[in-house]
This record gives sequence, C-alpha cells and structure tokens, in this order.
Amino acid sequence: MPVSLISSHLCESILRSNLANFLCVCPLSFLQRITEYMEHTYLINKACLLSDSIERMQAVAAFAVSAVASQWDRTGKPFNPLLGETYELTREDQGYRLISEQVSHHPPVSAFHAESLVGDFVFHGSIYPKLKFWGKSVEAEPKGTITLELLKHGEVYTWTNPFCCVHNVILGKLWIEQYGTVEILNHSTGDKCVLNFKPCGMFGKELHRVEGYIQDKSKKKLCVIYGKWTECMWSVDPQTYESNKKAEKKADSKKQKSPEPEGVDGDDADNMPEVLETVAVIPGSTLLWRISSRPQHSAQMYNFTNFAMSLNELEPGMQATLAPTDCRLRPDIRAMENGDMDQASREKARLEEKQRSARNDRSKDEEEWSTRWFQSGTNTYTSSQDWLYKGGYFDRKYSDLPDIY
Ligand SMILES: *[C@@H]1O[C@H](CO)[C@@H](O)[C@H](O)[C@H]1NC(C)=O
Ligand SMILES: *[C@@H]1O[C@H](CO)[C@@H](O)[C@H](O)[C@H]1NC(C)=O
Repeated sequence: MPVSLISSHLCESILRSNLANFLCVCPLSFLQRITEYMEHTYLINKACLLSDSIERMQAVAAFAVSAVASQWDRTGKPFNPLLGETYELTREDQGYRLISEQVSHHPPVSAFHAESLVGDFVFHGSIYPKLKFWGKSVEAEPKGTITLELLKHGEVYTWTNPFCCVHNVILGKLWIEQYGTVEILNHSTGDKCVLNFKPCGMFGKELHRVEGYIQDKSKKKLCVIYGKWTECMWSVDPQTYESNKKAEKKADSKKQKSPEPEGVDGDDADNMPEVLETVAVIPGSTLLWRISSRPQHSAQMYNFTNFAMSLNELEPGMQATLAPTDCRLRPDIRAMENGDMDQASREKARLEEKQRSARNDRSKDEEEWSTRWFQSGTNTYTSSQDWLYKGGYFDRKYSDLPDIY
C-alpha cells in the first residue's frame, strides 16, 4: 500500500535531484524511449494487410502490448528531454519514419508522429508521464492519447498506456511492474479491445500477466487475448477459454492446498516475486506476438534491446542532415554513450543551466515558447487535448530552430 503521496510536482523535483542518484541513468533521452514503441512495427504492417477486422484488432492489440514490452528490466532512467529537443528515426526496412519533439517543460510533454513510407498508417501521440512517489516506489501514469490510423482500412484506434511502477527506489533491488486497463477503441464502429495489465498481487501469481478480450458494440465477446507483456500474447475463442478455465479450477481444488508464501510488509524492500511459470497455452490459441530475445551483451548495456542500442547511432553522413536539436547531438548523452561519466554530468548541468537562463530571458521579454513541429490541438477521435504534427520536418529546412545545446 502507498505510504505517502507527495504532490507530483514536488515528486518530480525529488526524482530530478535526489532520486536520480538512486536510479541509474541510461544514455537515452525520453524521446528515444518513446521511439521504442516502434520496435514491433511489423505488427502494424501485418494489421494493414489483414482483411478480417477482428484479426486486425488482434494485431493492433499485440502492437499495443509489444510497445511497452521494452520496459522489462529497464530500470535505468532516461534523460529528461530539453524543451525543443527532437528525435527522428527512419527505418526503410520496416517502412516508416518518425519525428518527436519535447513540446512542454512543465509539465513535461513529448509528442511523436510516425508515418508509413508507403502511406499505410499514421501513428502518433503525446505522452506526459505523471510521476507519483509512494515511499518505496515511483509510479508513472502515462497520460496522453496514442492514435493509430490504418489509412487503407479507414480505421482509427486510440488507447492510453498502462501505469508503470519502479519498485524499491530507496532500498533493495529495483524492478518494474505495469498495470491498469488499456482500452483500444475502434472509432469507426465503437468496437473495442479491453486489456487488463494485472498488478502482481501479494503472491506474485499475476506478475506480468495481461488478459482481455475484443468485443463488438453490442458487448458480445468476439475473442479472448491473454499472455504476458514480457513474453508473448495469444488469442483464443471465448468458449474454449471459459471451458479451459473451468477445467483448471476443478484441477486446482482437487490439489492439496499448499501454504501460501509469506507476504512482505513493514519497512523492508518489496522484492519482485519469483516468476517461475511461463504462459500456459490453451489448445486452439493463435500466437499474436512473441518478444525477441535481448542481445548477449544487453546486461552490460542497461538491458537494452537491439532496437534500443541502435537509437544513438550516428551513421556517416547523418550529421549533415539531422536537425541540430536531435538527441543524437546532445552532448551529455553522447559523453555517457562514450563512457565519459564526468564529462556527461558536467554537460548535463551546463545544458540545464542554459535551459533555465533561456527561460528566464523569455519571461523577462514576456515571450512565449513556440513549438516547432507540433501544435497543441484536439484529437478529433477522443476530443482530448493532444499535440499534432504540423508537417515539414523531413523537408529539412531547419531555420529558426532554438539553440538548446
Ligand atoms: C537488468 O536486468 C537484470 C536481471 O533481470 C537486473 O538485475 C538489473 O537490475 C537490470 N539492470 C538495469 C539497468 O535495469
Ligand atoms: C472497425 O471499424 C471499421 C470501420 O467501420 C469496421 O469495418 C471494422 O469491422 C471495425 N473493426 C473492429 C475490429 O471492430
């Protein structure tokens, strides 16, 4: 249970100062972390090719889960983006390009826009991780809407990511839990997919589990989706799922009741429950997604995936075309990437000071910060406030970009 709830603003400054010392930092900006949603873009490409609308929704659901799977064992805190910082990524092999921008500092909002190179889809959103400090853990509520438009099918899906919690920020071994309900809405029909990211519970039985279903607008369940966000997701028809569950319950009640393991409480660390079980596959299920294994040297590299490792790469010739605000050119991240920690912390302090004094100058002149590639607007589908791409980034006319480094 939460021990104390400090206002999120205060919490943020705690995170930025003291706690940052407890949480290890990894050499990626938060803009690059959200780019990791794109790791399994093949699932969107698959959805575009499917003619059956339920199968499309399944692929989209698998994509939504896969997008947060990179969090697994990733307790390294990313760098807070500077106001006006950008990140671009073009992946010809997966057929998309993405641009993101830090559009607000207080609260910190990151906007991204990805588009298929052949016009199949647009995927965009704005993320505002609202942090709460609960004594032993820090919880991030990923406020902000994510929108996926499958253009050829004329379909639009929206959702919000689950909560993410880092346990034992003060004491003990850090570990990550994701929980909450993610509802993926098909705005053309009102059909939806409800995914329940289960909290691990007292005895850890539900750790990493995700369970849900797709229903039509008359609330008829069309299929059940289950698995773990750290492992794989499957779909099965509701009847098979229910009869399997009944059979399991019967078997369970016959078994001798073994004593439950003791729960942890008090001031001790909340340790991650041992996860022994892998997902039990119900006969007749279809595999929707399986996580790729991490590279061998991942443990020495902040548990990065292959995809994450590629995000700081500066290929020859790239520097000439990148916007000067791109994360890859950010001196503190670069220094850390090169293993020079002293240089990294000096540069980090310098950049933050530069950002502060620019803000002070603006307030003296009563100037407002203007975002470059995104503008505040209303998400047509959810009617919520959102940040929408203005276009033009890839024309590479970088006039009047702020000098933030
Ligand atoms: C990487 O994963 C290992 C094993 O699961 C874990 O002990 C470690 O804390 C993780 N490191 C980071 C930086 O998240
Ligand atoms: C989503 O909406 C479209 C457009 O009306 C419809 O054709 C499709 O069946 C819906 N898909 C799902 C999975 O609900």
